[in-house]
Amino acid sequence: MVQKDKKIKIGALVSGNGTNLQSILDAMKRGVLKNIAQGVIVISNRPEAYALKRAQEAGVEALFLDSKLFGSRQEYFDMICQELEKREVDLICLAGFLLKLEGNIFKKFSERILNIHPALLPKFGGKGMYGHFVHEAVLNAEEKESGASVHLVDEEFDHGPVLLQRKVPVLGRDTAQVLADRVLKEEHILYPEAIRLYIQTKLKIPIA
Ligand code: GRF
Repeated sequence: MVQKDKKIKIGALVSGNGTNLQSILDAMKRGVLKNIAQGVIVISNRPEAYALKRAQEAGVEALFLDSKLFGSRQEYFDMICQELEKREVDLICLAGFLLKLEGNIFKKFSERILNIHPALLPKFGGKGMYGHFVHEAVLNAEEKESGASVHLVDEEFDHGPVLLQRKVPVLGRDTAQVLADRVLKEEHILYPEAIRLYIQTKLKIPIA
């Protein structure tokens, strides 16, 4: 069992509703991440992101950082890096974060950035593949199944090695919204479980 003071420190980057963030926060309280990980900061690039509220309600520091106040994306992400390093974050979880990471963050957090994507990567990932576009593409391709993937983040969109996936069937009368809801339910199980697996296998911290 990881000792209380040895919990992995997670920093999350968010842009929106934050239901995946919620599943992670819940898992830290009473689920698969209990005694294993703790949330130390949630950073949003949008002030109205409901995810910030979720963080506050869970007692986790919530920070809005406006990318428009920085000269370049690189400077913006350097600032994000500083905020994460100040809090000794071990692992970054992207949870519905819509900006593409740039600059030194990849070096500073090499192999320590995870993302969740609402499709079975390597299919239906890449530029422009977010939100309803993903599910519309899946329906247009007449796929029999879809799902969600947690992967390590590298410099290309939705590209790094996949850690874990969960599948769902695609049904005849599905709309993009119906399929999105079915996938999202699985995401909420998948992300905490993938984080746990990551901590166990990549960080090699034994978990009782
Ligand atoms: C999820 O579908 C996730 O896979 C994708 O963005 C969406 C975020 O939803 N990266 P939420 O903000 O976690 O509710």
